[in-house]
Amino acid sequence: MRRLKWAKEYIEKSEDVIMNPNEYKGKWSSFLNRERIHVEIGSGKGDYWIGMAALYPESGWIGVEKNESACALSLRKVEETRENVKFIYGDASVIDEWFADGEIDVIHLNFSDPWPKRRTSKRRLSNERFIKKYLDILKEDGEIRMKTDNRKLFEYSIIEFQNNGFELIEIDLDFRSEQHDEDVITEYESKFMELGPIYRAIWKRRA
Ligand SMILES: C[S@@+](CC[C@H](N)C(=O)[O-])C[C@H]1O[C@@H](n2cnc3c(N)ncnc32)[C@H](O)[C@@H]1O
Repeated sequence: MRRLKWAKEYIEKSEDVIMNPNEYKGKWSSFLNRERIHVEIGSGKGDYWIGMAALYPESGWIGVEKNESACALSLRKVEETRENVKFIYGDASVIDEWFADGEIDVIHLNFSDPWPKRRTSKRRLSNERFIKKYLDILKEDGEIRMKTDNRKLFEYSIIEFQNNGFELIEIDLDFRSEQHDEDVITEYESKFMELGPIYRAIWKRRA
């Protein structure tokens, strides 16, 4: 996306961004004053995570995004600092440095970059390198919820999660063919749902 000149300064001044997430490791629940913690990785311009936080105020919601401009745009959407909403500007490859074992209830992966070439597959957020970290930081009954328009990424993810400690508990090959008021439409989703099916899956940690 286009680089925004004002982004860096905006992020630095925001009260909703956590610049030192390592310091909150093991303390997110008390910091957000919520028992249940949801994390969206690759939250883009923030529509999902901010919308879901408004829909489910009883949970804590944390957005993670590594792109500076997307991060600033999403912070601009948080109109007032809500107690249950925080944001981490950083690369999720070190997510286990920010969250303690068993600290998160749900990880959301929405329209993750597909990285279609084999040599870049390790960057996929559903690559085993990431999944092993998710296994650690999720609670025992923790979940991964994924939406994508990319069939190949979806198939790849089904196999990766299956092979790395997760059990598929829900799958929908055309999620938006029915109304789902309980789930916010992301920026990418609003573009792609007109063009073809949205795939959606939920996995639980295998007991
Ligand atoms: C295709 S966009 C989707 C944005 C949003 N979830 C949506 O559905 O509209 C994918 C986003 O994931 C972010 N991303 C990719 N890998 C990441 C990582 N390792 N850590 C944090 N963000 C990441 C990218 O910067 C990008 O903004």
